[in-house]
Amino acid sequence: MRIINDNKINLDLLRKSITKPEIFEKSTDKFWDDEYVSEQMLRFHLNPDIEAASKTKETIETEADFIIKSTAMSEGKAVLDLGCGPGLYVKEFAKTGAMVTGIDLSDRSIDYANNNIKLEYRNTLFIKMNYLDINFKEFFDIATIIFYDFCALNTNEQNILLAKIHTALKDNGFFIFDIVTENKGTSISTNISVCEEGFWSPKPYVEILNTYLYEVPKTEGLQYVIIDEDGLTRIIRIYHRLFSLTEITEMLNENGFKVEKIYKNLKGEAFSRDSETYGIIARKA
Ligand SMILES: C[S@@+](CC[C@H](N)C(=O)[O-])C[C@H]1O[C@@H](n2cnc3c(N)ncnc32)[C@H](O)[C@@H]1O
Repeated sequence: MRIINDNKINLDLLRKSITKPEIFEKSTDKFWDDEYVSEQMLRFHLNPDIEAASKTKETIETEADFIIKSTAMSEGKAVLDLGCGPGLYVKEFAKTGAMVTGIDLSDRSIDYANNNIKLEYRNTLFIKMNYLDINFKEFFDIATIIFYDFCALNTNEQNILLAKIHTALKDNGFFIFDIVTENKGTSISTNISVCEEGFWSPKPYVEILNTYLYEVPKTEGLQYVIIDEDGLTRIIRIYHRLFSLTEITEMLNENGFKVEKIYKNLKGEAFSRDSETYGIIARKA
């Protein structure tokens, strides 16, 4: 999509680009698997001190430890980590001796995991694929999806994923994940920046970031409009469904899971009704 043609700004296209999109309207471009963006993303994943593409190293270790203890993860168990990124949780899980499979659609993350984690932990397997396409049958004892990735899916995709995970798990298997809740404060805003180079491109670009809120279902939407010097324009949309406790419990029940325990996060901190996040331990019913 080009916003400048014959030295003229296409104002109509620009106006449409910065208008509030339909809820869960897709991006115009690749995000997780874009050649340049995924390189920036990997840098963030591997930075131990910042919470960006992954949580901090300290949080990852604490959460992994909590998940391991909560599920009695050990040798002989099969674990599935969906949206595993470069395998930071997979690595922690693999230390228990469990057989751990990580799935991600980013080539760059899977390459990193194969060239680093896999070499040290032979009990790991990394697969590059869309987790909505998995077709495992009653194979895993434990499945995880971590860093609120479940909230980035629309309701239809969430139901598809839950059905796939249900089929992939053995009876009574664990499904462990974290979500963003309706208590998260979202300020509706517009920010414009001009960058010489940055997260979205190695060349100069303008970034227009709009933050939107949708009421049904309650969802936060981030829309990045990235305009290169020559007018080439990409729109990246990221959503977070903001669940209530009742909504997520009902969705899990409808898909054949029972909620075993809810925490504030996957560190196992105590849950409260106004938590901005929940860490959920569910089991195949
Ligand atoms: C926020 S990152 C979290 C990565 C990892 N769970 C962690 O906490 O370190 C989300 C990951 O999900 C992956 N992802 C997003 N949508 C996906 C999909 N449909 N299928 C497989 N992976 C996906 C992205 O490539 C990215 O690595």
